[in-house]
Amino acid sequence: MATAALPESGNHGDAGQGTAGTVIQPGWVRLAHWLNVIAFALLVLSGWRIYNAAPIFPFKFPRELTLGGWLGGALLWHFAAMWLLAVNGIAYLSLNIVSGRLRRRFFPLTPRQLAGDFVAALRGKLAHDDLQHYNAVQKLAYLGAIALLVLVVLSGLAVWKSVQLPLLRELMGGFDNARVVHFLAMAGLVFFAVVHVVMVALVPRTLLVMIRGR
Ligand code: HEM
Repeated sequence: MATAALPESGNHGDAGQGTAGTVIQPGWVRLAHWLNVIAFALLVLSGWRIYNAAPIFPFKFPRELTLGGWLGGALLWHFAAMWLLAVNGIAYLSLNIVSGRLRRRFFPLTPRQLAGDFVAALRGKLAHDDLQHYNAVQKLAYLGAIALLVLVVLSGLAVWKSVQLPLLRELMGGFDNARVVHFLAMAGLVFFAVVHVVMVALVPRTLLVMIRGR
């Protein structure tokens, strides 16, 4: 129910009215999504190793769940994957904006639609028969994840280049606070990813679409 039924124009592949061969997720979206999954996994696992070297909260992550072996190794993984996440993210966002897909796929998004779809989701009555449109809860979740990815990159930059980027550092509330912001953005994204994968498992057709495009 209640997916924003905007008519979509057909020249970017995420459009059409549901014929069997219609491309629902264009190739560049699928490529960007799966590159993002790889970069995100590498960043989280190496990030937990870096965190363990100087924890900001009274806990550490189990060593078996970390990547890099030691602080230096984890930093190398983190910086390598950082470029993949950032460059891929900039390409994904730019193409989404320039092609108009961002507006078509994620908007409009009103509190009314959100409330309706949220209640339907809680009752297990959210329909998934039309994969061409995201429902309002999906739109909010994906936009939230994209915003958190931007925040994780900016706060990471503030931690990495805190002397060279004083404005960004101060916007994050100083170096120590930038670390907290970076951690909380990571935690929000891990939470999103867990819920996201559970939802995908509940509607496996969406996974096929994210792999094959249709
Ligand atoms: C193995 C892990 C993952 C799987 C299997 C997966 C699968 C999927 C699938 C099937 C969709 C399409 C959903 C639909 O049509 O309703 C999707 C969309 C999306 N996923 Fe994932 N995902 C994974 C991890 C992630 C992670 C880690 C992030 C971000 C940190 C993420 C961010 C997104 C976003 C933003 C979209 C919307 C993309 C767009 O339409 O432009 N995913 N994912």
